[in-house]
Amino acid sequence: MPNVPTHRPRRNRKSQVIRDMVQETRLTTHDFIYPVFLIEGQSKALEIHSMPGIYRFTADRLIDEIGRCVELGIKSFAPFPAINDSLKDRLAQESKNPEGLYLRTVADIKRQFPDIAIMTDVAMDPYSSDGHDGIVDVDSGEILNDASLEVLGQMALAQARAGADIIGPSDMMDGRVAWIRDVLDSNGFSHVSIMSYTAKYASAFYGPFRDALDSAPKRGDKKTYQMNYANRLEALRELALDEAEGADMVMIKPALSYLDIIREVKNATNLPVTAYNISGEYAMVKAAAQNGWIDGEKAMMEVLTSIKRAGADAILTYFAPDAAEVLRRG
Ligand code: PBG
Repeated sequence: MPNVPTHRPRRNRKSQVIRDMVQETRLTTHDFIYPVFLIEGQSKALEIHSMPGIYRFTADRLIDEIGRCVELGIKSFAPFPAINDSLKDRLAQESKNPEGLYLRTVADIKRQFPDIAIMTDVAMDPYSSDGHDGIVDVDSGEILNDASLEVLGQMALAQARAGADIIGPSDMMDGRVAWIRDVLDSNGFSHVSIMSYTAKYASAFYGPFRDALDSAPKRGDKKTYQMNYANRLEALRELALDEAEGADMVMIKPALSYLDIIREVKNATNLPVTAYNISGEYAMVKAAAQNGWIDGEKAMMEVLTSIKRAGADAILTYFAPDAAEVLRRG
């Protein structure tokens, strides 16, 4: 061995131009799907306490926000509704109402912005008086899988009718991808895509989202349908099922504590892989930045780049507009 190194990886880091030349992962606005929150009413934007910079918009204001994002180059949106308690019931019936807040607004967004992609959320929780993603058995408190499929299929169909480009089942009931595919196909919506929440873990990081929608479970937790965060092989089993059932794209959620799962799933499938950089992950960065403990903008770009480097082809993220602004500045 010579007493000076022959191999000097630092040469590839010696200047900004060289670093840029050899950079392996680059974010673009095409990577982003922006989750947005919708509330009843007129000309209101209510900031979510636990998600600084993120608002619950009335439909008119949401249209403005989408317009702003389209200007920034963001083309995909995932709206979630906050439904008034008076409209919630055991069977989430409001989820099928074409005149209800969600479907009416989805249709309106598509009318105003025909070129963007809208991914709608299929799960009962925003409409459920129990705050669960499936039907809760009155006596046992159990989440009823097969009865829930019926509701989820009807919800997906109503969303397709409203103009959804992509259906995003986030409920984790067994067999829902095949069920929804069948309902869509037999009703003339074979062109509507399914992005399955393939590996959705029971996570403590969903807290701010549940605040935003007031959708937390009234009793119990979601551990009988969302996955145990200690498990890796189970994600591959869910992947195999979603592929067999006809999913067009698969998702890992959350993202940051699951970068290993994103990579593993990416290596195991030919389908596009997405990851959901969820509310709690957003809140952590924002809170630390607000305290002056980290540089929020740099941390945001590092977080998003790491998710893409792990293997995500697209990222659902509340950072989408902020990151788009950083990318625009160059
Ligand atoms: C449930 C759903 C959740 C999120 C989106 N849809 C979480 C949950 O309550 O189980 C969370 C997204 C986020 O935290 O940003 N259908």
